[in-house]
Amino acid sequence: MKTLTFDVVILGSGLAGLRAAIEAASSRGDLRIALVSKVQVMRSHSVCAEGGTGAALRPEEGDSFELHAWDTVKGSDFLADQDAVFRFVRMMPEEILRLDHWGIPWSRRSDGKINQRPFGGHSFPRAVFAADKTGFFEMQTLYDTLQKYENVQIFNEWFVFKLLIHEGVFQGVVAWELATGELYTIHAKAGIIATGGAGRLYAFTTFSHIVTGDGIAMAYREGLPLKDMEFMQFHPTGIIPSGILITEGARGEGGYLLNNKGERFMERYAPERKELAPRDLVSRAEMTEILEGRGFEGPNGLDYVHLDLRHLGRDRINERLGLVREVAIKFAGVDPIEEPIPVRPVQHYTMGGIHVDIDGKVPTVEGLWAAGEAACVSVHGANRLGSNSTAECLVWGRITGEQAARYAARAKHTPLNTENVKAAEAYLQSMLDKNGNESPYAIKHDLQRTMDRFVGVFRVGDELEEAVRQIRELQKRFENIRVVDKTSIYNQDLQTAIETSFLLDLGLVVAEGARRRTESRGAHARRDFPKRDDENWLKHTLARRTPDGPEFEYIPVNITYWKPVERKY
Ligand code: FUM
Repeated sequence: MKTLTFDVVILGSGLAGLRAAIEAASSRGDLRIALVSKVQVMRSHSVCAEGGTGAALRPEEGDSFELHAWDTVKGSDFLADQDAVFRFVRMMPEEILRLDHWGIPWSRRSDGKINQRPFGGHSFPRAVFAADKTGFFEMQTLYDTLQKYENVQIFNEWFVFKLLIHEGVFQGVVAWELATGELYTIHAKAGIIATGGAGRLYAFTTFSHIVTGDGIAMAYREGLPLKDMEFMQFHPTGIIPSGILITEGARGEGGYLLNNKGERFMERYAPERKELAPRDLVSRAEMTEILEGRGFEGPNGLDYVHLDLRHLGRDRINERLGLVREVAIKFAGVDPIEEPIPVRPVQHYTMGGIHVDIDGKVPTVEGLWAAGEAACVSVHGANRLGSNSTAECLVWGRITGEQAARYAARAKHTPLNTENVKAAEAYLQSMLDKNGNESPYAIKHDLQRTMDRFVGVFRVGDELEEAVRQIRELQKRFENIRVVDKTSIYNQDLQTAIETSFLLDLGLVVAEGARRRTESRGAHARRDFPKRDDENWLKHTLARRTPDGPEFEYIPVNITYWKPVERKY
């Protein structure tokens, strides 16, 4: 196996990875930085972010850091760490202006100022946007900006499948170059995991097929704790039947949700905020309408409600929601100028992730950070507000990039532990050699079915037990898989096998964590425990890997400012 040597290695090239790379590269010109991505940079899932990035830009018009922080903490159902939330809201405006200076085409108001639209759970129009392709333009701007730093080398289509950690010190990663099948050790002093969430645990998801929780699972396999993984976000408007995102910006621009009686049902569930209540609440309202027979019958059990934009008119839809219109026409055969769009709750975000501190640092490993959806700081607690995730990627991309660079400038490369490298090589070979009679594709499909069915918007104890049982069964079946393709160039079979094994590990953590949490909080809604239980459950979950499955412990939430109160919208 060849070895490449860098000072900092960044895994993942979405918003968090790119922002970290720019920060590391610009803060120390003498550092060599590797940015390693499973796909070409602009295919990272962040390009799919649509509706906006939250920042309190306008104190003169009534917004404030405190208001942004309060909305975020209340939205999180009081599970967010409040010190982290305050740091987040204070840093955001600068990130918006920085992107502006780097050339992003933010949508503008008629007075020329950066425009902002309303988003769910925010009590001020706070989502800065670039039409409904915000993530795409943010990615393009960061990618363009990165080009000027010659000390960053980008490895497109390199799949990192193993972290090298020895005696509590990060030493690098093992990566597989997909185009050639060659294996490489990337020896580094500092690492940042920015590989995104675990959306493809579910079939009905807004996520690209590449989003398989690789970084989170690799950390888990190294014995690092995962935090709050039972909190999965379901976005209220996934289009039927594919699940592609219809941005919350559509409701921010004034779109309504209607049931099969033509009722604007959110008036009953959130009289004040209606469609712009937080996502957990809107998703539960939609599911209640559907389960009580006020939805529309959809294909494969995907019953739905209507998102009606017709009253916005052709010009506003074309100007602000061009992508929504294109997606609705192409993927549902519906032109929103003339007809409502069929939508239902869809998996959209992993609130949990690798347990890190307020600097994005992995507490027990020297030289290792995580940022973006792969990490759990925790800013989002039990329910993230829309527009706060692209924002978090920018803030903690910057923080971790700066911190990793500072560390790498003074640290020395430690001699690589060859046992770890050999184990990685043996692992890949053993996967390639698998000749059983199970298909990794079928196992992944069955895992997604289990998660869609039993670990969704509403959960109940015996169904979660069943999910745990089924996932353990799938893990047994996985031992007997067959990797049909034995060649080295773009071996999709081998890649799918590894990704599926990652997802199986994470699925068990999510389902088992959800089974244990006997309360309802944010996106975790237990029918058998319908109330929030602050006395017993106002705490973060930590899950660690053992040979028998995850082991759990709980740690306190940082409540530095607001005591929990009832959430009303
Ligand atoms: O609806 C949306 O545009 C999604 C935004 C987000 O998840 O933050």
